[in-house]
Amino acid sequence: MTGEDGGVATVDDRARSPAGPMVPVRYRVTDRCVETADTVTLELAPVDEPVQDPAPGQFSMLYAFGAGEVPISISGCPTAQHGPRHTIRAVGATTRALCRLEPGSMVGVRGPFGAGWPVSIAEGADVLVVGGGIGLAPLRPVVHEVLAQRERFGRVGVLVGARTPADVLYPAELERWRSEAGFHVDVTVDVAARGWRGHVGLVTSLLDRLPIRRDRTTAFLCGPEIMMRIVAQDLIDSGTDPARILVSLERNMHCAVRLCGHCQLGPMFVCADGPVISWARAAPLLAVRRW
Ligand SMILES: Cc1cc2nc3c(=O)[nH]c(=O)nc-3n(C[C@H](O)[C@H](O)[C@H](O)COP(=O)(O)OP(=O)(O)OC[C@H]3O[C@@H](n4cnc5c(N)ncnc54)[C@H](O)[C@@H]3O)c2cc1C
Ligand code: FES
Repeated sequence: MTGEDGGVATVDDRARSPAGPMVPVRYRVTDRCVETADTVTLELAPVDEPVQDPAPGQFSMLYAFGAGEVPISISGCPTAQHGPRHTIRAVGATTRALCRLEPGSMVGVRGPFGAGWPVSIAEGADVLVVGGGIGLAPLRPVVHEVLAQRERFGRVGVLVGARTPADVLYPAELERWRSEAGFHVDVTVDVAARGWRGHVGLVTSLLDRLPIRRDRTTAFLCGPEIMMRIVAQDLIDSGTDPARILVSLERNMHCAVRLCGHCQLGPMFVCADGPVISWARAAPLLAVRRW
């Protein structure tokens, strides 16, 4: 069963924690990888009965005991080698508490929630992945899925924007995607540092040198809304179908199960109908000014 935009799950079809969608189950942190000065990736393993395996683009509600609960996307789907991974940027009390957790610590998990990236609709076409800042985290499983079934996709471009070179997520993995998988990987930063030989400027400035065929591209975008808007418009202007441009939206979330209304955007609940939706559907909703 798929969501309205071909997403991989909806609030109605996803499996939930055995105790119900509002009750966190306990997971233990098994690995903690410091990605940048303010961002870590936590790998988790179930202590109780595990929640359903998340799909690329879905998110979980992670509960830092004594601090609070926040929505965090899956940045690495469970595999034979790895438990589910989440990459978290410390911006406030709860994300700071999560980022401080060491291996052995306990965390509460609800989910997975929402409609994920419908990676299969890109089969037979070129693939473009554009991540701005922490927005690369929910996109990493898309690249993993393309890598796992490489022969099913055409040319692949990955564009990454970060504040500074030190803020670029997963640099070693980006290098492997470029050198081993032959993907076109381009990184740009807002502010360069000594020794940086790469691009400086907005991620949108990388679009011109992209060797993908715009009229047969499926694009996956996640980052600041202004970035997604400009990239989407550029792609549409050069022939990409707006229905094949997928974006992941961020809204304030509490329940994650279409109950509280905190995430409402026009007629949609981002927690359940999103966070991944097509640009064709997102554009009119984001054009409405909210107070
Ligand atoms: C579907 C979804 C997936 C997400 N995935 C990730 C992820 O993979 N990694 C990650 O680091 N973060 C992710 N976020 C954002 C994360 O949930 C927020 O950073 C977190 O809720 C902040 O909580 P806090 O208590 O630490 O900070 P708060 O004290 O609540 O906020 C601190 C600052 O962050 C801002 N902020 C709060 N919530 C958000 C939000 N949802 N989006 C943007 N700014 C916000 C506030 O305005 C404030 O300036 C995701 C959000 C959503 C909705
Ligand atoms: S977070 Fe409560 S309705 Fe979406």
